[in-house]
This record gives sequence, structure tokens and C-alpha cells, in this order.
Amino acid sequence: MLTYKNGDLYLEEVALRRIGDEVGTPVYAYSSGALKRHYQEFQTALHGLDHMICFAIKANSNQAVLKCLADLGSGFDAVSGGEISRALHAGAPGHKIVFAGVGKTKDELRLALEAEVCQINVESEPEITSLNEVAQSLDLQAPIAVRVNPDIDAKTHEKISTGKSENKFGVPISRIRDIYRHASHLSHIKTTGLALHIGSQLTDLAPYRDAFRTACDLFKMLRGEGHPLKRLDVGGGLGIPYKSDDTPPSLAEYGALLKEFVADIDCQIIIEPGRHIAGPAGVLLTRVLYVKSGNGREFAILDAAMNDLLRPALYDAYHRITHVSQPSLNEKKRLYDIVGPVCESADTFAVHRSMPIIKPNDLMVIEAAGAYGSVMASEYNTRPLTPEVLIQSDAYSIVRKRPSIDEIISRDRIPSWL
Ligand code: LLP
Repeated sequence: MLTYKNGDLYLEEVALRRIGDEVGTPVYAYSSGALKRHYQEFQTALHGLDHMICFAIKANSNQAVLKCLADLGSGFDAVSGGEISRALHAGAPGHKIVFAGVGKTKDELRLALEAEVCQINVESEPEITSLNEVAQSLDLQAPIAVRVNPDIDAKTHEKISTGKSENKFGVPISRIRDIYRHASHLSHIKTTGLALHIGSQLTDLAPYRDAFRTACDLFKMLRGEGHPLKRLDVGGGLGIPYKSDDTPPSLAEYGALLKEFVADIDCQIIIEPGRHIAGPAGVLLTRVLYVKSGNGREFAILDAAMNDLLRPALYDAYHRITHVSQPSLNEKKRLYDIVGPVCESADTFAVHRSMPIIKPNDLMVIEAAGAYGSVMASEYNTRPLTPEVLIQSDAYSIVRKRPSIDEIISRDRIPSWL
């Protein structure tokens, strides 16, 4: 997908230098071909299962990205009213949207019901009570799946682990039976599914094995109690290789494991992948502003910063960083700290990274930035939100433009009394 041709780095058939020159940097560039291929790879891995792939919008919510996937028939996992609106706007029908999240407002629940989403994944008894009230006011039946917290260690970064008992997500297994019993007595609630999600960037199948076993056992138990469950939502979380030597499980292994557990349950399986579809499909293109020597350190200062891509600052995440101009094979390497211009030491993309010589004005890409990149960006330091482009073959379109500083400032209001 990212390949050098005649010494220049291309994404699909577009030279990234062209995007850097024409759109300016920093800028996110996504490959529509890769997005579609990754979605199709999930389809292949789950072939034979009654399933729905619900792309986790939180990973990348650009309308063009969602439309690419909606056109393939993808479903969507939304975690806010805003994300439901984004999915609808991109052309997804309500019945292909799952609404999840640990703290939904009544307005969001109303929006979800009015959109006739296929399922609302609820995370607490008080939420079920609220939902029942909202559904009653609309004279509708709310289809719910309760999210179970299976107390499983996903063996991922602590900030993106969600399935342990100390995490805020879901309800403990010990209370599941009572919650379903209570919910089934409410006038405007239908218990139609069961959900879980144990974490993100999982690089080992073992926690999935435990999670699938727990989910299937619970599913059968609940059906045995008379709940008319139709869907089992096993969440997302499959990891991608950020480092060259990372070896996360393959989609085929993941699919085979899932099939092994759900084979004897007659229901629809929902999966909610985000990173696996969008992550490797995108890069953050950035230009080197300065290279300066510190005390025993060489700093390469980029025009991208932690406000554009927060993952390294927040999770110490590793992203490969690559020159757009192909370095020669015998080019010397040096150790660099690769940093952004924001006034925080956390604004660091790599420490002591061995790299071919970096020079001012060099274009670089930060790889695997298509998921949890742009969506987590901010305007910290009054740096405009990073623009985004979507590539198809040898053409690209700007799918979110860079706001001007005037646009940013004009959102503020000075009160008349000042
Ligand atoms: N379903 C639920 C209920 C989730 O909470 C998440 C992610 C997903 C699906 C999608 O997970 P994925 O397939 O993308 O791993 N900002 C962090 C990741 C946070 C993930 C939050 N939940 C990062 O940059 O690593």
C-alpha cells in the first residue's frame, strides 16, 4: 500500500509529495482501497457466519471514510448521538447501527430510537430505566443488549483495556441474570442481545478465547431463561502491527476462533472493528521544520504535533516514521528524538529512533495513523485541526479542509460587557 516508486513514497498511485506540496502539512492521507480491502478481509474471515461488521466510528469518523464503508454494506458502532448522526448522514440505515457507550444522555437515546438503530448496548440498570422512559414517551420498544464486564485481562495498554472488573464498562457477570430478568419486565424494553468488548489493540488471541467462551455460556444461559436473544456482539479490538516485528493474530485465526465458539448458537454475530480497518489505511504526512542538537541528542522537529496525533503522548504508542524520499540503502543512520512544536515535553513521537539522516524540509510519514488519529486531534496551541485527504487510485480529494485561523478565532465570542 505504501510503496516507493522512483525514489518517492506513494499511497496507492498518489505520490505523497504531491499531497504535501498541494495541500500543505500536516495532513492525514487515507487509502480508500485499503479501507475497503480491510472490510472485505473481515467479511472473508467471517464467511459462513450470520454476522454484521459494525465499523467503530470512533476510530475514524470522516464522512468520506464512513461512506466508503457504508457503500460496501458495512454497519456502524456509534458511541454518541453525534456518531449516530454521522453514520446516518453517510448513508447507513438505522438498522445497521449499534449504539454503545457507558453514559448515554436521554437526548441521545431518543435519537437512537427515532433512527431505529438495531440495538442499544446498555451498561447499567439506571441506563435501562432511562431508556424505558424514553421508549415509553415515543411509544416504541427499545431493543437492548446488556454489555457484560467479563473481568478478563486483554493484555493491552492499561488505558485501552476495558474488560477488567476495575474498568468502568459493562456490568459484572454476577449481576447479568438479575438485570435481564428486571429488563424483561419493563414495558418498553426488548432484550434482544448480549454484548462485550474487552479492549483495543489486542495482540494475543488468548483473551478473546476467554471472552468468547464467557459470552457464549452467558448467551445460552440467558436464552435458557427465556430471553429472546438474537444477537451476540463481541466488540472490536483486534490489534495491528505498529512495529515491523509485531505479529498480532491474523483475521483468519480470529475468525476461526469465533466460529469455534459460536457454531452451536443460532444468532447473528456483531463485531465492531475500528483500528483494524482504518489504522493501516492512513498516514500522517508531515514536514521537518528543524533539526537541532541537544546535549547528546539530535532533535528532529516536525510540523505535526501531539494535537494532530495524540497516541504517542497519551499511550507511549509506537508509530513507524518514514522518509517520503527513499533513503539510499547504504545511507548512514543516526538516533533521533522526533518531536512536534507544541509546548510540552509529551509532544514527542519517537525517542532515540534510529533513522536515515533527517534534514530540514524533508517530508515524513507517521504510519498506521488512520485510526484514532484525526478523531483525537485538537486545536491545542491554536493549531488548526489537521485536514484529511482520501486517495482512490491515482487521484485524491480533500475530505476535510484545514480551517483558517480566522475561522478558529471567530468561533469565540467576546461578551458585550467586556
Ligand atoms: N467497540 C467498543 C465498545 C469499543 O469501546 C471500541 C474501542 C471498539 C469497539 C473498537 O475497538 P478497535 O477495533 O478499534 O480496537 N484511542 C485508543 C483506542 C481506544 C479504543 C476505544 N474503544 C488508541 O488510540 O489506541
